Amino acid sequence: MKTEVSHSDSSPLPSRSGSEGQKGSMEKESGSPCSHPQAEKWEGKEGKTEMTVLFSLGKTSLSRIAQVFESFEAKIHHLETRPAPKAKNTLHPLEVFMKFEIHNSGINLLINSLRKVVEDVKIHWEEKVPWFPKKIQDIDKCHHVITKFEPNFNQDHPGYTDLQYRRRRADIMELAFKYRDGDPLPKVEYTPQEVSTWKEIYRKLHTLYPSYACKEFLDAFQHLEEYCGYAEDHIPQLQDVSRFLKERTGFQLRPAAGLLSARDFLASLAFRVFQSTQYIRHSSSPMHSPEPDCCHELLGHIPMLADKEFAQFSQDIGLASLGSCDVDIEKLATLYWFTVEFGLCKQNGTIKAYGAGLLSSYGELTVSLFSILSESFFIIPEPSFAPIIHH
Ligand SMILES: [Fe+2]
Repeated sequence: MKTEVSHSDSSPLPSRSGSEGQKGSMEKESGSPCSHPQAEKWEGKEGKTEMTVLFSLGKTSLSRIAQVFESFEAKIHHLETRPAPKAKNTLHPLEVFMKFEIHNSGINLLINSLRKVVEDVKIHWEEKVPWFPKKIQDIDKCHHVITKFEPNFNQDHPGYTDLQYRRRRADIMELAFKYRDGDPLPKVEYTPQEVSTWKEIYRKLHTLYPSYACKEFLDAFQHLEEYCGYAEDHIPQLQDVSRFLKERTGFQLRPAAGLLSARDFLASLAFRVFQSTQYIRHSSSPMHSPEPDCCHELLGHIPMLADKEFAQFSQDIGLASLGSCDVDIEKLATLYWFTVEFGLCKQNGTIKAYGAGLLSSYGELTVSLFSILSESFFIIPEPSFAPIIHH
């Protein structure tokens, strides 16, 4: 890589007043001869690390500094100087900014050596922030599907041996892969068998909702039936549901090809975009699906996304996920799982469901509430959509 050398009062030297405390923060202590506890953070892959240092030359010449770097086989990528602010009586009144690459094993020794010959050594390391969408169009790239629950790969999937089902699912999945932000949402002409599966689920859950679903869900569901084509003989289309949601809470839908990675799914929520599958579960197993399907999305998720407070909560989880490390993504996905997917709340002294995984599954809904009511449990009172946690 080419080495750049320049002398400037401006970039890329970090600002004197605002450099500390910013992302990719600067080490504040200087002059310590001991090894550096932060060294592990700097260590990059393949045995080498790219890092930057800022220091004042003081009594040492630039050529002497270059020798120090050379002795540790550090490869200088960029070097820049500017007048040092506090250096009135020094031989070399310059502040130096240097970007270089070095073997991980030499980091501590180089920094110690440098601190012996120059002043005010401050170290920067580039904090690698995972890619995240900056604008809604970027969500086109958030489509990484987790395939292990799909009928093509999961032998326990009810549709695993049904080639016709798998082909149908693949066709609908393809609509999602081709979709780009701004396109009209794809319309699926559901077959009589698919509508029949929907009808069976719809009817059963419909009888349970008044007893088990929270008030917000019931209110929204009524509106969905009135204005959005929710009925036992009709599987609502994404475009109609998306229009409805946008008016209510600003959320909109886009087609998803399957179960998405947590990072991609949560990132979409940050833009009030909900990624929704369009295929339906296998007809042999109407009450259970190992993966999200349109019944889960339309019956479980959509009603709650029509509630303003819940929509805000969903977006907040999404915003927190942007640029987060894998560990934090997992924590946020867990939070999502125990609230948005399987959350229960207490309303007027009665336990009600607001989680989509419960409200779209006959078995989950009845079993979870039955078991909750027969055990001791603890409810977090705030926020409204907090999970119930068993002792
Ligand atoms: Fe879900």
